[in-house]
Amino acid sequence: MKDKTKIWMDGKLVDWNNAKIHILTHGLHYATAVFEGIRCYSTKKGPAIFRLEEHIKRLVNSCKMYHMTLEYSEKELKESIIETIKINNVQDCYIRPICYYGYGKMGVNPLPNKVSTSIALWDWEDHIKTQGDKGMRVIVSSWIKIDSRSLPVHAKASANYANSALARIEALKSGVDEAIMLNMSGMVVEGTAENIFIVKDEMLVTPPLTSGALDGITRSSILSIAQHLGINFQICDISRDELYYADEVFLTGTAAEIKSIGEIDKITIANGRTGKIATKLQNLYNQIVHGNNEKFEKWLTYIH
Ligand SMILES: Cc1ncc(COP(=O)(O)O)c(C=O)c1O
Repeated sequence: MKDKTKIWMDGKLVDWNNAKIHILTHGLHYATAVFEGIRCYSTKKGPAIFRLEEHIKRLVNSCKMYHMTLEYSEKELKESIIETIKINNVQDCYIRPICYYGYGKMGVNPLPNKVSTSIALWDWEDHIKTQGDKGMRVIVSSWIKIDSRSLPVHAKASANYANSALARIEALKSGVDEAIMLNMSGMVVEGTAENIFIVKDEMLVTPPLTSGALDGITRSSILSIAQHLGINFQICDISRDELYYADEVFLTGTAAEIKSIGEIDKITIANGRTGKIATKLQNLYNQIVHGNNEKFEKWLTYIH
């Protein structure tokens, strides 16, 4: 897909191989960039973007926290994403808009530099590979999740992902798939790029946003779907040890979708396979994103 794909860069559609920026781009040196991860799914009415409105709102809020003056309105950003999907003629794809302080004046202060925006698309099917209903193997990372006293954790900012990347490397070098991160108080926050849920005695539980977790759009979708299915849920702190004896543990995110965890720190979670509640949520989520559920169709933006 990649070589033939056009990338939207500040209003111009450029070839994948020519989508280049200057080596002194501020965002590259000082991580002054914010981005989104969105998915487009095939439906019987053509491709549809899942929760575009909410992703754009979060992007604009991330920009705000980094004092970025965007050259595009929310409407223009949405239209540009739709245009990029149309021109590339894709059905299912991952969409990555990014806003960053560009090339101009070096030094920690980003403000003299123009804020640029680009939108790229790619296939992202095997974000974290799993086999059938077998859960992922994970560790609890020794890297503590960054805290909102250091960086605005609710901004989906490149800077935050250095923390995530170190935890992911630690997991992969330990021979497992992913890492779970704890906050400065030792409470469970999320995966490196996913929110976390546990199930205990039929109760679905996810940590509050005050834990430092990103306000995940899949997380909020799962809570609405759970409510619709009559699954009880609670938003409250989860301690590390509660993970080990939970009935189910799973991660949610745009890229990951809903992925069960079968083992944490070499302890098998229940039978190590996707549990009953995760399966129910996965089934309805898949129906919704592919436009097969009328009640939740409002979450889809059709391309044509
Ligand atoms: C740190 C982090 N937490 C949670 C999520 C899940 O968010 P969403 O469901 O909006 O993709 C992501 C992915 O964007 C993430 O990077």
